[in-house]
This record gives sequence, structure tokens and C-alpha cells, in this order.
Amino acid sequence: VGVFVALLGGGFAWLWTTADVSTVGKVDFSNRLAVPPLAKSTVDKDGTRVFDLRMQSGHKEFNKGRRTPTWGFNGDYLGPTLRAERGEKVKVRIANRLKEASTVHWHGMHLPARMDGGPHQMVEPGDTWSPRWKIDQPASTLWYHPHPHGATEKHVQRGLAGMFLVDDKPSSGLELPKKYGVDDVPVIVQDVKFDGADFDHGHGFMQSTGFLGDRTMVNGTMKPYQEVGDELVRLRLLNASTARIYDFGLSDDREFALVGTDGGLLESPARMNRIQLSPGERAEIVVRMKPGEKTVLRSYSHDTYGDAWQQRFSGGDDSFDILQLRAADKLRPSPEIPGELGELEVPHGKDSARERFFELRTSGINGRAMDMSRVDETVTRGTTETWTVRNEDGVPHNFHVHDVQFRVLEVNGRRPPAELRGAKDTVFVPGGTTVKLAMRFDGPADPDTPYMYHCHLLFHEDGGMMGQFVVVDKGDKAGRPPAGHGHG
Ligand code: C2O
Ligand code: CU
Repeated sequence: VGVFVALLGGGFAWLWTTADVSTVGKVDFSNRLAVPPLAKSTVDKDGTRVFDLRMQSGHKEFNKGRRTPTWGFNGDYLGPTLRAERGEKVKVRIANRLKEASTVHWHGMHLPARMDGGPHQMVEPGDTWSPRWKIDQPASTLWYHPHPHGATEKHVQRGLAGMFLVDDKPSSGLELPKKYGVDDVPVIVQDVKFDGADFDHGHGFMQSTGFLGDRTMVNGTMKPYQEVGDELVRLRLLNASTARIYDFGLSDDREFALVGTDGGLLESPARMNRIQLSPGERAEIVVRMKPGEKTVLRSYSHDTYGDAWQQRFSGGDDSFDILQLRAADKLRPSPEIPGELGELEVPHGKDSARERFFELRTSGINGRAMDMSRVDETVTRGTTETWTVRNEDGVPHNFHVHDVQFRVLEVNGRRPPAELRGAKDTVFVPGGTTVKLAMRFDGPADPDTPYMYHCHLLFHEDGGMMGQFVVVDKGDKAGRPPAGHGHG
């Protein structure tokens, strides 16, 4: 392991190690992939679908004979998959059985600010919180996780995360794999590190980005394999890691079809053999399998952005073998996936009422660190805006906006690649990159309750790379949000 000092464009120095953490060819895939159960729900008299989530502590045996202390929703690690249809009213009764305050944020969901589960909606130990809203967005793979100011990395790493799948009529009618856990499989990818039985959440020399583990797991399963009984399998990839960026591909480099991004289905499938996801991003891919074969979902090192920044970021080879797919000797035939998947509901930006600029630095956004009592941006309800986001310090960052899905109009002034042409709520912004986004704010006005925008590398978010916006009716002013109480 060598330790180097680098001089970056900005003229400051930092340290990193060149530890190779590649697990390619070294994983024996001995554990069947756990699939998060679908959350049970009941339907109220008024038609509201009601879910229960309990935040609790526990233990899980990730490695044989070693009980790791964990947190989870309704269980020891991660949480059940919530599922509801567009047009439904939902309510989630959240009980905090932890010894510290936390929140539950609905990442990617369009909903009123008070239901958002950001740092202003803290749930104290022993308390409950029951957000309710009406689902009004296309079928998509969303997720939920805590958002306490200053402690999000810790709460997510201990195991608090789960998927929220939205369905809608048009997508249910499409010939896409949709048997949950069979040919439509949630793939929640996290990198981890162990110190004996315990998680090791230390940042070591990698403090510029936050925690980086030395192995990966899927849905909380180490060395996972998934048995495939159909010719086509749809993987709903979620990067639930706190800092690591993955370049997903299959071990024999075969093509797959990208059918969906953060906010739902693409207009038409895009064929590719790599898909890069930074923390918080999702992708739905469909993989074709041959009878009896095995292939491995892998993350390749340094591929898409094979330039210096990722070398700095990872130091050495960080290719990971993530999930083995094992096809049965006989596969059920799958229909061809449709050539058209639907229409995007994200704006083109032509009717943009306002342009805003965001400069990302590890120390803050637009030169300011997060302050819970300060509203940074005031947005008029019912308008479209274009937001231009630029990485100013060369450290890997991404950009996530609450409440909305956006269209990526440009990456460094050019049309974005196929994987960024769908509805997105989180976009990777590597060093030297500028992205231009268009989004529409249709939510109810609430001048006193902010939504967040932030870097989703959780250590950066916790460290202040976050800002707040409110949605107000035309001509109204922002209120003054309470300072709240932070963590960390
Ligand atoms: Cu997934 Cu503001 O977060
Ligand atoms: Cu960042």
C-alpha cells in the first residue's frame, strides 16, 4: 500500500492509498440472494393504503458465525419493499424504536414538503410519524432512507434503507418482466467493510469522499446468487452505498437493455453494456439469459470516466463481482421487450421561468454550508426552471433534488448519453463537469417547509453540501423554517 500526496487543480493536497480492492474472480457466490419482502398494507375506509415501518436495532449474520449489530425497518437489516399505484393515497405509520432521533425520506417521490421526511421531520425515539400523500407520478423504482442532518451516512450504513415501487396502468400493460423476486428483482448494492463481527465505517485516508468498503453485498446478502427461470430478467439496480460509484456491466460484457432510470421508464429501451450509478441513483435493466449459463453482475473500474479523477477517488483497481445470475437448464420463454415504453413526464425546459446556478464544492453549495434555518432558493409553484450544476473542486459529487424528477438537458454543453435521457432525481457530476437540468415544481406551496437539494455522497451531505428550497405561490415570500436539531 503506497501513500501519495497529490496536488490537485485547486492547488491543495490530500492523501490517499492505492489499495486494490478488486473482488473479481474471488467471490464464491454461496448465498442465495435475499429479496426484501413486499410490505403488507391495509386499506382504510377512505381508500388510503396504510403501511407500517418500525425503525429498530438488531443483529445479522452477514458472515458465518459473526453477529453484526445492525439497524433495519421491520427487521434486522434494510426494509420491506413498499408498493403502490399511481392515483392511490398512501399513509406510512413510522415508529422509531431506536435510541436516537431519525427521519424517513421518500427519495424520488413527488409529495408535500411536510411529508418528505427530510431533516425538518425528525422522529424522536419512541415517537411515531405518519406522513400521507397521494401518489402522482409514473411507475418507477424509488427508495426510502433516513435524512437526519449530519448523521445520514451513519443511519443508512447501519441498514436503514428500502425500495418503494410505484406502479401505473400503462406500465402494467407492457410486456416487461414483472414477477417480483422472480424475473423482476430488486438489487440494492452497498459496499461494506468488517472489523471482526462489526461493521467498520471508518473513512481512513479516503476522507475526501466518505466511506469506501472493500466488498459489496446485495439486499444485505454477501456473495449472492440469484436463480433465473425466465429468458429475460429485470434488475432494479439501486446504488445505496454512501460514496462508491459503480460501473455496472456483466462479466462477459454482453449487452443489456436499459429500460428505466430514477424516475421511471425510458421512452424506448437503450442497449448498452455499462451503466454507471452514483449514490442514490437507480437503473432498471433487462438481461437475456441462456439455459444453464452463469453470468456475473460486476462493477468495472475506471471505465466510463477513465480519467484521472476516478484514479484519485478509488486508488487502484476497484472492480467488484456483485451478483451471480444462474440460469436454470430450462427457461420459461419471455416476450420481447417493447420498442416503446411510454412518454416522459419531465419538461424540456423551453418554457423555463428561471435559471439558477449551483457550484458544488465539498465545503458547501454556492459557497455556503447547510443551515436549517436558511432558505436558499424560493421557487414559484407551477413553473419550470433550469438548474445548472457545476463541480468546482474536482472531488466526485452528485446532485439530488427532492420532490421533482428532472430532465438532463446537457452535460458539458452536449446532449447527454442514453442513460441520462430518462427521468432523473440524482445525477453524477464528476470533476470538471457541468450539467443542465430542467424540472417543474407542481407541488403544493408551503413557504415554511423546505425541500432539500444536495450531494448524495452522504459524507458530503452530512458535512454541509446541502441547501434548501421552498415552493410558494406566485408573488409569495419564503417563511422562516425552524433551525431544527442536528446530529453529528
Ligand atoms: Cu436520498 Cu435527500 O436523499
Ligand atoms: Cu459530494
